[in-house]
Amino acid sequence: MSKHPVTLTVNGRPHAIEVEHRKTLADALREDCRLTGTHLGCEHGVCGACTVIVDGAPVRACLMFAHQAEGAQIRTVEGLATGETLHPLQQSFIDHHALQCGFCTPGFLMLAVAALERDPEMSDAELVEVLSSNLCRCTGYVNILKAVRAWAATQAAAPAPAPA
Ligand code: FES
Ligand code: FES
Repeated sequence: MSKHPVTLTVNGRPHAIEVEHRKTLADALREDCRLTGTHLGCEHGVCGACTVIVDGAPVRACLMFAHQAEGAQIRTVEGLATGETLHPLQQSFIDHHALQCGFCTPGFLMLAVAALERDPEMSDAELVEVLSSNLCRCTGYVNILKAVRAWAATQAAAPAPAPA
């Protein structure tokens, strides 16, 4: 099958790659951009392991074609930390023992970051609803919720940005 040039902007960096029209964003990130932090579980939109953020929204990268993401700002788990400093939600996952094998972790991180960046004052019920869309086969949901709730509390308490 013929390949076509696509430029994906991932974590602020352009990746000029060549992909088949039907190549998924998840496969392009992993195989062509060499960003293997985005995991693939079910590959048909059920588990959420492949969740990335596209233009601010959580997206299942196994359900999107790479060429559909051209021109968008894509964020993956590799972009969460700043140098050696983990994103506070990553640190919260460690502090609350929110991972076992870690396979589902990138998806949960990107899902929660997208949801709480959009709505830092999300209610606990809404947060549970959002997180229920991803699966953890190690059944670590209680600690995942604890970790996200702890970070959500700091988000809600943060001062609102000053008006421009
Ligand atoms: Fe994409 Fe499961 S791998 S939802
Ligand atoms: Fe293993 Fe979630 S920690 S699948």
